[in-house]
Amino acid sequence: MEQRTLGSQGLRVSALGLGCMGMTFAYGGQDDTESRATLERALELGVTFLDTADMYGPHTNEELLGSVLSRRRDEVTLATKFGNEIGADGQGTGRVNGRPDYLRGQIDGSLQRLGTDHVDLYYQHRVDPEVPIEETWGALGELVEAGKVRFLGISEAAPETIRRAHATAPVSAVQTEYSLFTRDVEDNGVLATCRELGIGFVPYSPIGRGFLAGTIRSTDDLPEGDWRRNSPRFQGEALQANLRVLDEVNALAERKGVTPTQLALAWVLAQGSENSDVVPIPGTKRRRYLEENVGAVDVPLSAEELEAIEKVAPAGVATGERYPAAAMKTLNH
Ligand SMILES: NC(=O)c1ccc[n+]([C@@H]2O[C@H](COP(=O)([O-])OP(=O)(O)OC[C@H]3O[C@@H](n4cnc5c(N)ncnc54)[C@H](OP(=O)(O)O)[C@@H]3O)[C@@H](O)[C@H]2O)c1
Repeated sequence: MEQRTLGSQGLRVSALGLGCMGMTFAYGGQDDTESRATLERALELGVTFLDTADMYGPHTNEELLGSVLSRRRDEVTLATKFGNEIGADGQGTGRVNGRPDYLRGQIDGSLQRLGTDHVDLYYQHRVDPEVPIEETWGALGELVEAGKVRFLGISEAAPETIRRAHATAPVSAVQTEYSLFTRDVEDNGVLATCRELGIGFVPYSPIGRGFLAGTIRSTDDLPEGDWRRNSPRFQGEALQANLRVLDEVNALAERKGVTPTQLALAWVLAQGSENSDVVPIPGTKRRRYLEENVGAVDVPLSAEELEAIEKVAPAGVATGERYPAAAMKTLNH
């Protein structure tokens, strides 16, 4: 598997990562046995950059990864996150917490659950507008000095916040949603700021939370309790409008002889600069999907093909917000 560099501090990762969230959280159909087998298969295929968060579960996702990876720690680049606040009862509070004393407690919990003494990439999951970013990042810098964390990242942050964080302790990666259906970072200054400051970019939900795979045609295709049932894009008229665009994208995939998911991932991979600074983390809990997705690394898209995709799916083509209204308010601080 090709390796890419995230940021200017020396973090090297596989060109495609693996998003582990759905193994225990957000999406239905969980199966720990298949998830563990998927993690093992990922390492066999060279997909060694694994993405989790304390909030996924909460805690169960890190525990699942720890149960497999503590035996294979040297083979993986482990990324986890803090900041979506988890209360003393172990449940999410719905608030964001960027206070130094909070994150010092969170990293210790993550290390314990992951069965390791260090995390390779530690992200602030959401920015806390109540805490100056310099305070949060001062404490994060101390975690690097203490050897608990090797590199630092931030998720869904505004350009000015990225700049201020980076001036406090080096930011190696920004993680934000990016796919054919979510292209905000192209014109809200996030990608431009990353490139200016030499920060790597990690697109999350690069398959549009599964939508671009083409298997979800109705809300009824989603299991009970699946987060996407509450996502504006997967409902009613918006879903129908999005399916019309998707059918045109899928026709291009068919013409090229690749699957819809491979085309969606190849498009994200093609957005990297000359320095290949983009590393998507498609999520799956199944070996079958993982194997298909890895194939996208070997799907180059020509200028003509990128143009054809652009024609049917220009920026802003998706109908409906990418999060429910309350969650939209936590983005881009
Ligand atoms: N920083 C943040 O705030 C944030 C937010 C969301 C996600 N993330 C991270 O980003 C990762 C990826 O995002 P995501 O999981 O939300 O969305 P995604 O990668 O766009 O899509 C995941 C969905 O696509 C399905 N899928 C994957 N490969 C497929 C294939 N080849 N054919 C058909 N369906 C396929 C998966 O199904 P199965 O589940 O059945 O395998 C899952 O439902 C997460 O796991 C998480 O680590 C971060």
